[in-house]
Amino acid sequence: MARHLITSAIPYINGIKHLGNLVGSQLPADLFARYLRGRGHEVMFICATDEHGTPAELAAAKAGQPVAVFCAQMHETQADIARRFGLSFDHFGRSSSQRNHVLTQHFAGKLDENGYIAEVEESQVYSIDDGRFLPDRYIEGTCPNCGYDKARGDQCENCTKQLDPTDLIEPRSAISGSTNLEVRATKHLYLRQRALKDRIAEWIDSKTDWPILTTSIARKWLNDGDGLQDRGITRDLDWGIPVKKGDQPWPGMEGKVFYVWFDAPIEYIAATAEGTDAHGLPDSAWRRWWRLDEGAGDVTYTQFMGKDNVPFHTLSFPATIIGSGEPWKLVDYIKSFNYLTYDGGQFSTSQGRGVFMDQALSILPADYWRWWLLSHAPESGDSEFTWDNFQQSVNKDLADVLGNFVSRITKFCRSKFGEVIPEGGSYGPEEEALTQALTTRIRAYEGFMDGMEVRKSAAELRAIWVLGNEYLQAAAPWSTFKTDPEKAAMQVRLGLNLIRLYAVLSAPFIPFASDAMLDAMRTGNRDWPKDARTALDALPAGHAFTVPDVLFAKITDESRDEWQDRFKGIRD
Ligand code: MF3
Ligand code: ZN
Repeated sequence: MARHLITSAIPYINGIKHLGNLVGSQLPADLFARYLRGRGHEVMFICATDEHGTPAELAAAKAGQPVAVFCAQMHETQADIARRFGLSFDHFGRSSSQRNHVLTQHFAGKLDENGYIAEVEESQVYSIDDGRFLPDRYIEGTCPNCGYDKARGDQCENCTKQLDPTDLIEPRSAISGSTNLEVRATKHLYLRQRALKDRIAEWIDSKTDWPILTTSIARKWLNDGDGLQDRGITRDLDWGIPVKKGDQPWPGMEGKVFYVWFDAPIEYIAATAEGTDAHGLPDSAWRRWWRLDEGAGDVTYTQFMGKDNVPFHTLSFPATIIGSGEPWKLVDYIKSFNYLTYDGGQFSTSQGRGVFMDQALSILPADYWRWWLLSHAPESGDSEFTWDNFQQSVNKDLADVLGNFVSRITKFCRSKFGEVIPEGGSYGPEEEALTQALTTRIRAYEGFMDGMEVRKSAAELRAIWVLGNEYLQAAAPWSTFKTDPEKAAMQVRLGLNLIRLYAVLSAPFIPFASDAMLDAMRTGNRDWPKDARTALDALPAGHAFTVPDVLFAKITDESRDEWQDRFKGIRD
């Protein structure tokens, strides 16, 4: 049994997330967490809301609420939707928590002590019409790197380059659209990432097993052009973590807060502490996950995120950790994702385009979405959501293959033997062959899941479901029953045991259906199949079960067309 720390990129508080956000971080992280728990490992799965910075302020202003109130409400909303999607966080924290204030100020103090903070007199864009500085997302313009015309002051969404507001070509205020801007001087703290470049490069070079998507983005910003830049880590905003050196004031920094991208990843640590606080546990309970000198030496830490987040997790956050000079746990593996597109275009929060998590759940249960999203995860390139493709996957994989198997075998048993696992007969060559095939495929499935190959895992799981259908088709207990009821009983017993086995194997992908299958089989036995043969004997003859309700309903053409039409526009 190993110890696994898993974090998902923490979603911005600015609104309900769309399916593209979900598949790029929280959902695959949940898949992995559920799988590792299923295999008996000790897992700490952490997520939180990212509550500072301009996205939060802009959204609160739009909602006409004080930002603290907006964040508190939106946190609850996101937590509720996450729960309904089956996201099994051990804790869903808030980056505005007291824990994060203290830790962020602590890291800044340590970085300063070690000489990695510079105080820089810098020019910042000031909006005359808005009467304020325009940091980060308060400003938009054209990306100097790729020419994308909706680049934000902190990063270009199109080419992932981290930007400073003064880099933008033809800048405009995101608040008023005003171009009546000027550059004014103000003092800020910079994280001297350049000074840490060699150590970061060495660390990345040691990660030979990382996905290409992750290392290529990291190497690009490490080596291209001017290479790794020092980064401003403070802002002229009201909402955020006040700039302090540990618990001491920071002269000259009064009224300023840390930059959201400085405090957000620290929230991974803080959220773990918020979680153990909520359980009334001592500090050692979270520190054993994070401090190498307090037990985290045997922890494997995996992060999940979309590709736009990679620079912050391969460069900036490691710079914070390494520069602190303290024995904090660094990430062991970064699993990153490309983008999911929506029906020929982009999902977009700011433009309200695509399907958002709450809307998705108002149409169909979480498992339908989980299955489609994970089996089409944008791993090797972007992938596209279309209603047609969604309908096909759901109808074929979930309804025809898995759902149909469960329904046929349970109903047939009820009609001939009653709702109890039938007795008699013993496994023959067909069952032996099935067991062999299952063993091979289960081991392959484990291999893909261990390697976080999401699509391949889904394909393998589906193939495991298909084995059951093929067996049932060939064994045909409904015919066998006429000539050899004992043999039919054995076939049905095996089929019913397969349902339990499928529930266990499928739980990481479709946890709600998995629970329904186990409930129907009236068992709480979630033992991972070390050995397929033993797993198929788990439910003995005489064990009672219930025929479950339809696990997955097919999506009709009418529904598909109606949804396609309903979600073609823009959400207000
Ligand atoms: N909120 C960011 C986003 O949605 C992710 C922050 S991840 C963290 O892109 F590392 F900063 F926490
Ligand atoms: Zn760009």
